[in-house]
Amino acid sequence: MADYVLAIDQGTTSSRAIVFDKSGSIHSTGQKEHEQIFPRAGWVEHDPEEIWTNVREVVALALSRGNLTHRDLAAVGITNQRETAVVWDRTTGKPVYNAIVWQDTRTQKIVDELAADGGTDRFKQKVGLPLATYFSGTKIKWILDNVDGARAKAEAGNLMFGTTDCWVLWNMTGGTDGGVHVTDVTNASRTMFMDLESLSWDQDILDVFGVPASMLPEIRSSSEVYGEGRTGGMVPGVPIAGILGDQQAATFGQAAFEKGGAKNTYGTGNFLIVNTGEEIVRSTNGLLTTVCYKLGDAKPVYALEGSIAVTGSLVQWLRDQLGIISSAPEVEKLAATVEDNGGVYFVPAFSGLFAPYWRGDARGAIVGLTRYVTRGHLARAALEATAFQSREVLDAANADAGVDLEDLRVDGGMVANDALMQFQADILGIPVVRPKVTETTALGAAYAAGLAVGFWQSTDDVTANWAEDKRWEPQMDAAERDRQLRLWKKAVTRTFDWVD
Ligand code: G3P
Repeated sequence: MADYVLAIDQGTTSSRAIVFDKSGSIHSTGQKEHEQIFPRAGWVEHDPEEIWTNVREVVALALSRGNLTHRDLAAVGITNQRETAVVWDRTTGKPVYNAIVWQDTRTQKIVDELAADGGTDRFKQKVGLPLATYFSGTKIKWILDNVDGARAKAEAGNLMFGTTDCWVLWNMTGGTDGGVHVTDVTNASRTMFMDLESLSWDQDILDVFGVPASMLPEIRSSSEVYGEGRTGGMVPGVPIAGILGDQQAATFGQAAFEKGGAKNTYGTGNFLIVNTGEEIVRSTNGLLTTVCYKLGDAKPVYALEGSIAVTGSLVQWLRDQLGIISSAPEVEKLAATVEDNGGVYFVPAFSGLFAPYWRGDARGAIVGLTRYVTRGHLARAALEATAFQSREVLDAANADAGVDLEDLRVDGGMVANDALMQFQADILGIPVVRPKVTETTALGAAYAAGLAVGFWQSTDDVTANWAEDKRWEPQMDAAERDRQLRLWKKAVTRTFDWVD
């Protein structure tokens, strides 16, 4: 059998391909950023064709850098930014509009209209989600309502919808020439259309949104063979055998298989996931209920999730929009030029506030400014915002689960930032633990695919491969922690009610 598994990670800012060996170690990688399109305040788009071109490039790069061909691959797994909606023409294979990204808030009006009858929680019992701009459902509706001819085409069965896993899979397996139109349960659970119990599309909700079921992909498990790379494509004949939304993939890659297992990923945003086993736990503290994974015919495993829209992307904002750093890693140096935040709190409510507040009317605020404040304090406040927001979703998770987490597994780009991880442990009051392989998202997708084809035998292999790299113990005294949290929460209230 071939010695490697390839994971494609189609993320918010870049697409990556990572080849893993049987020990779960990285063999080779390829990565390319794609354009972030901001046509108006609050709108965020990607070009789906650019994404597909980049995916092909990074796969070729990872294979050539690793001195491999597709014959060395036992399977391919896909993981992706979730909720980002692509709608394309079944016959031409061309998108009818740019992908509307999960951070995009243009559908607030649709949310308000739908919430007028029954409130924002009207579908929550079924789908685990409040009505919010975040999820794909209102984005699909916006495209059908606003793109010329889209609704008629959709009703005639000529349009397809998919999150980016589905878009990539369809193209990889042949596109207009027999492409497989499939997504997995974790991605489907982010649309607002999937019933968490039956794991199927809910016709009543589709009717309320006016979205034809014919547009939607078939919902399958997270680990099974969906199809093969098309002849003449980048991985001809290789089974594509795993799909997991990126946050669920990270949970899988962190081997958080037990009920109560948890991880926090520091990416564009932050996403804390707590595995709740076979039980569907409904949050009363502002978390989402979502599918964690489903392995083939086995029962689904569910999770609670605290989604934070802006963490790493705040650092990008400091770089691209404010220009106070020239590269993302520089933020650590700039933040280290000051002793503390100088009284500044930065609440990055750029897409409103997600968990635990779900305030579409919030917009970002920097408070506590005095003449004393420097760029260093701003950088520091921006980093601290990540830690404070994570503390708030951890509190919600502890309250929902009824048991406090004892430590927190972390992953994602920002966990290389030592000062941030120490501050995170300080603000949480529990240890923060980083694994050896921090590319847990890609790793999780690779595991899901490898398990489906027998490359790995069971999740025990995944657990055996997980290894701790570093642990940060809390050092801040409780009174100081409480003081900072109090100021943070006060700052959060300053962001409310900012949309006319
Ligand atoms: O829900 C959005 C999430 O899936 C995006 O993750 O890592 O691309 O920021 P990331």
